[in-house]
Amino acid sequence: MKPLPKTAVPPEVKATDAQTQRLAALGFMLASVCHEISNPLAAVHSMLQILQSKRGVSPETLDKGLASIASNIARLLAITRKLGDFSRVGADAPAPVAVDAAMEAALALLRYSEQGPEVAVDYRGAPGAAVLARAGQLEQVIFNILLNAAQAMRGRGRIEVAARAAGESVVLSIRDTGPGIPAEHLGRVFDPFFTTKAPGEGTGLGLAISYEIAHELGGAIRASNREEGGALFETTLPLWRG
Ligand SMILES: Nc1ncnc2c1ncn2[C@@H]1O[C@H](COP(=O)(O)OP(=O)(O)OP(=O)(O)O)[C@@H](O)[C@H]1O
Ligand SMILES: [Mg+2]
Repeated sequence: MKPLPKTAVPPEVKATDAQTQRLAALGFMLASVCHEISNPLAAVHSMLQILQSKRGVSPETLDKGLASIASNIARLLAITRKLGDFSRVGADAPAPVAVDAAMEAALALLRYSEQGPEVAVDYRGAPGAAVLARAGQLEQVIFNILLNAAQAMRGRGRIEVAARAAGESVVLSIRDTGPGIPAEHLGRVFDPFFTTKAPGEGTGLGLAISYEIAHELGGAIRASNREEGGALFETTLPLWRG
C-alpha cells in the first residue's frame, strides 16, 4: 500500500512561497481592517439607536445624526474600495510585466487623479526590464506612490521617476519636491491605516498595500527624505530573466 504523505497537505497542492506570503499579508490586513472598521460601525450603530429611541427629534439633531452616519459610511466605503482593489489585483497567474509599461500605465492614471494633471513628471525608463507579477500589481504599487507624491505637493511640483536594472534586481525610484516625510513618521508610513490626511481624504492603506505587493513579488520598498527636500521611495524587485 502507498504510504500516506507525512504532511496533511499533499505536496502537489502545497502553497508556493508567494501564495503563503499573500495569505499572511491578507490575514494581517484583515486583522487591521476589522479593528479599523469597528469604530465607524459602532458610531453608526449608536447614532441609529439614538435617532430611533427619540420620538420627535429636532430637525437639527436629525441633521447632525444623519451627517455623522453619512461620514462614517463614506469612510467604510473608502476602506472596502481600497481593499477590493488589493484583492482583485493578483487574481491571475504571475506573468512577466514590462517595468516601463507598468510605469506608463501608472503615470496615465496619475493624470486622471485630482492632484495629477499639473504635476511635472521626469521619467527615465529601463527598456527591456521585466518583473514577474500578477496583472495590475506593479502598476498599483507605482500608482500609490505617485499619487501620494502628487498629493504631498498639492498638485504642483515635480516627480522624478527612474527605473534601473542593477544586478538581479530592478530599482524604481520615485522622488518628489514636496515637504518630505517628518522623521517621526518614517517608520510608520507603511502601517495599515497610518495617514496624516484629513478624514475623507485618505484611508492610510495605499502604502500598506504597495508594501505587501512588493514583498509578495520578492522585493521591498524603502521610504526616505532627499537631502534637497522632498520624499524618495525606492522599490526593489527581482528582475525576470526569461
Ligand atoms: N511623497 C510623500 N510625501 C510626504 N508624505 C508622504 C508621502 N507619501 C506618503 N506620505 C505619508 O504617508 C502616509 C501614508 O500614505 P498612504 O498612501 O499609505 O495613505 P494615504 O495616502 O494617507 O491614504 P490612501 O492612500 O489610502 O488614500 C500619508 O498620509 C502621508 O503622511
Ligand atoms: Mg496614499
